[in-house]
Amino acid sequence: MNTITVVGSINLDRTIRVHRMPAPGETVHASGVFSAGGGKGANQAVAARRSGAAVNFIGAVGWDSAGEHMRDLLEREGIDTAGVLTLEDQNTGQAYIVVDDGGENSIMIHGGANQAIPAEQPHVCANAITASDFVIAQLETNIQPVVEAFTLARRSGATTILNPAPALERVPDELLAVTDVIVPNETEAQVITGIDVVDDESLARAAGRLHELGVQGAIITLGHRGAYYHRDDGESGLVPAFPVEAVDTTAAGDTFIGAMASRLRPDLSNLAEAIRYGNKASSLTVQRYGAQPSIPRAAEIE
Ligand code: RIB
Ligand code: NA
Repeated sequence: MNTITVVGSINLDRTIRVHRMPAPGETVHASGVFSAGGGKGANQAVAARRSGAAVNFIGAVGWDSAGEHMRDLLEREGIDTAGVLTLEDQNTGQAYIVVDDGGENSIMIHGGANQAIPAEQPHVCANAITASDFVIAQLETNIQPVVEAFTLARRSGATTILNPAPALERVPDELLAVTDVIVPNETEAQVITGIDVVDDESLARAAGRLHELGVQGAIITLGHRGAYYHRDDGESGLVPAFPVEAVDTTAAGDTFIGAMASRLRPDLSNLAEAIRYGNKASSLTVQRYGAQPSIPRAAEIE
């Protein structure tokens, strides 16, 4: 089973359910509210762990009760949180999520401690990185610790996976230079490549363009359609999703990445198979509410 280090965000998610999103200036009644563990980094770590990987986390929470709670949730999963700092002058990251009856969500995040991870933190955790098959990161933290972690990973032969989410107009070149596999969704792929993904032809073109950025593998996640991949040796294709009724798509992409990475060989030789496993996992996540509470375990996925 793979050993994985995640460098990423930890959020307290506060979700409100509505029949439909309010228009500007309009008030709607909520059908429910709840809080749960979230943050793209933490969700990906939980997904990888629940699929059986050994997982180390590098990140930060604030000096508050949410931070204690979020750290505790990760520890109870069996994730190594030695690399999670508690920053006295920061709040723990928070996400405010609205989910409608169609399962669509809108999210507002306050980065807090996630944006203040010291650049040297990956060096403090160098042993975890050196022992890892994969190092995974997103764009919900400050960039510098991610660049440092990927650079250390490259040096020790670990494969790096970047989920460029939420979308940034430009993924910094210094980060791309140390990225082996890039996993955007359609919107993020469009922002990065400038190609409007409207059909299979533009999808293949966008994946090819991502590949030209210098990565070994590009995977574009397509929600209910599945995921399209392009590998160094020219192999490419669509791995279809499992048709299900979605109630809340929060953490679907995170589940896909964590679960897939738990099964992927570092040389990417079983990429399509690992993607299929990730698709299965996320098809379960979308059928349940909340981020971390909705992430499935290996037994259920298999
Ligand atoms: O990807 C889903 C996550 O994005 C949520 O858990 C929320 O915290 C936001 O960061
Ligand atoms: Na969910």
